Amino acid sequence: MKRKVTKAIFPVAGLGTRFLPATKSIPKEIMTLVDRPLIQYAIDEARAAGIKEFIFVTSRGKGALEDYFDHAHELEATLKKSGKDDLLETLRTTNMESGAIAYIRQHRALGLGHAVWCARRLIGNEPFAVILPDDVIAADKPCLQQMVEAHAEVGGNMVAAMEVAPDKASSYGVLDIREDMGAMVSVKGMVEKPKAAEAPSNLAVIGRYILTPKVLQNLNRMKSGAGGEIQLTDAIAEEIAKSGNVYGYRFRGQRFDCGSKAGFLQATVAFGLARDELRDEFQRFLFSMTAVQKAAE
Ligand code: UTP
Repeated sequence: MKRKVTKAIFPVAGLGTRFLPATKSIPKEIMTLVDRPLIQYAIDEARAAGIKEFIFVTSRGKGALEDYFDHAHELEATLKKSGKDDLLETLRTTNMESGAIAYIRQHRALGLGHAVWCARRLIGNEPFAVILPDDVIAADKPCLQQMVEAHAEVGGNMVAAMEVAPDKASSYGVLDIREDMGAMVSVKGMVEKPKAAEAPSNLAVIGRYILTPKVLQNLNRMKSGAGGEIQLTDAIAEEIAKSGNVYGYRFRGQRFDCGSKAGFLQATVAFGLARDELRDEFQRFLFSMTAVQKAAE
């Protein structure tokens, strides 16, 4: 029987060096797109996919992230008293049920694979999701929900995949496709950051995964052996060799790399324009900026 996916790991222990100096004191995941921190987009996506347990792999200096999910009783009381029901509702989406959220510490930033491995004792014998909050995905049906539905059909391990230009492939893990079934592909290999000429396809892995506990066992061995960064891709690739049950899923939606400055700015524009209350003014501003830019050229 295929098990439902009810747990998600959010690795948020990275140093976020591309956003220094901001990330000296603000966790990257607390930076806001319009008015919501990146982590809120990730949580909403997880909830829509049926996730019930939220496991954060954090590190030193991420206190603001933990505080964010606390109930702000004083603030809620003030909003209630002044009849600001819409703000109260907004605030409530940030509340987590007691016991639904767990924080695990990654003591050294040894890589994404290591961060996921740190949560191993909370997973048990069931499939689990991994969400990287710096990949923000605008979609009619949230990306993880699309994946959970596809996973219910095939089981195994599944990674979110998107087509990238050949010269961009070297920034991603890239899939070697065994069989292309449309939205889904079965995978015969994965290469981390290949040179443009050596990329096996233009299908790149982005930050959504549904994994079997076997991947954690693979990470276990990597922990004892390898030095330096421990790659999640390697542990998934090992599953291809052992069981062949690794799939790529071409999600429907637009992904923004909010771990990079350019991606973050693009997401700000896209999410700003998507908001009814901001669209007109923001659009006028963007047009005028573009016109000024053009005139200066
Ligand atoms: P990134 O590669 O974006 O690294 O991590 P980073 O440290 O967050 O940012 P830069 O490159 O220094 O600017 C991808 C995801 O993996 C997590 C990060 O928090 C992010 O969600 N991660 C990475 C960990 O949790 N632990 C690690 O050791 C490395």
